[in-house]
Amino acid sequence: MYRQVLVLAVFAAHLGESPASCARNLNYRPIIGILAQEILEDDTDAQGSSYIAASYVKHLESAGARVVPIRINRTEEEYGRLFNAINGLLLPGGNVDIEKSEFSRAAKVFYELALKANDASDYFPIWGTCQGFQQLSVLTSNKNLLTLTDTKAVALPLTFSPGSQNSRLFKKFPKDVLQSLAEENITSNFHSWSLSLQNYSANPKLKRFYRVLTTNTDGTQEFISTMEAYRYPFYAVQWHPEKSPFEWIEKPGMVHTLPAIKATFYTAFFFVSEAMKNRHRFPSQIEEERALIYNYQPVFKGLSSIFLQNYYFD
Ligand SMILES: *[C@@H]1O[C@H](CO)[C@@H](O)[C@H](O)[C@H]1NC(C)=O
Ligand SMILES: *[C@@H]1O[C@H](CO)[C@@H](O)[C@H](O)[C@H]1NC(C)=O
Ligand SMILES: *[C@@H]1O[C@H](CO)[C@@H](O)[C@H](O)[C@H]1NC(C)=O
Repeated sequence: MYRQVLVLAVFAAHLGESPASCARNLNYRPIIGILAQEILEDDTDAQGSSYIAASYVKHLESAGARVVPIRINRTEEEYGRLFNAINGLLLPGGNVDIEKSEFSRAAKVFYELALKANDASDYFPIWGTCQGFQQLSVLTSNKNLLTLTDTKAVALPLTFSPGSQNSRLFKKFPKDVLQSLAEENITSNFHSWSLSLQNYSANPKLKRFYRVLTTNTDGTQEFISTMEAYRYPFYAVQWHPEKSPFEWIEKPGMVHTLPAIKATFYTAFFFVSEAMKNRHRFPSQIEEERALIYNYQPVFKGLSSIFLQNYYFD
């Protein structure tokens, strides 16, 4: 009797946990794809036409994932094959056109594959950081609803929406980390564009799709800083969790305090644990080996670069 009750309780707990299927056996060898993007025009260190900042790679590796770079300018067939081999996708920050770039084209291919997969109970998580957040908002609404804000280099505390500390993203964060996020200026903001609460609320597609977890303001405009999709394992932060432990430019908005680094870890830990619920794999070990980021060497760009190290791709 007691056993039955316990089993029911565990089952009920699982039901509340994830939007799609609930994988009981985790995949402890997760591989996450990070999407590359067109190089910045003023990047004099560039050794190729696209790049990934190494901090995103380290961020995921720090929580138990391996990384595969997703190159831009590839065919849909190639993206389809890669999708079936990886366990999640990270859309990084940067500075490309989120409607016309090759970055945005590839993001759209993966986003649509992820919608379909999740609808078919194939749990596939997506994480968007900064530009990745903005890209997700464009993919969901089919519109660019962003507005300029004064948030270029500033660290802010998060304003949690009611109940959002119990969201999927935040609910397993330790209490002290949530308290630091809410009270200390530890989230790094490096963006000119933001999704205002106003435009989000006026757009039914966005409003139905995403739950607002946190907001911020530049003093004038209230914007969304963290959101998660209601029915999909999609997460987006306008701030930069990967910067605190892995980027070292001396600049306002950069924070290396213990609470900031702890918060960074729990964001990575959360997303990697989501990727562990996916069972995609490469068709062979040789293909996996060829795809992993270890095949590339990051380039050290110097201490005054916004990205300390970049991976470059042709
Ligand atoms: C992508 O392909 C287009 C056309 O094939 C080319 O003009 C462009 O330079 C390529 N971009 C990158 C970043 O490789
Ligand atoms: C709302 O979106 C439009 C683009 O469709 C943009 O021009 C405008 O600045 C946005 N307004 C706010 C308040 O975010
Ligand atoms: C800390 O965040 C507040 C917003 O809550 C902001 O007004 C203030 O400028 C920030 N301070 C620093 C030093 O960034």
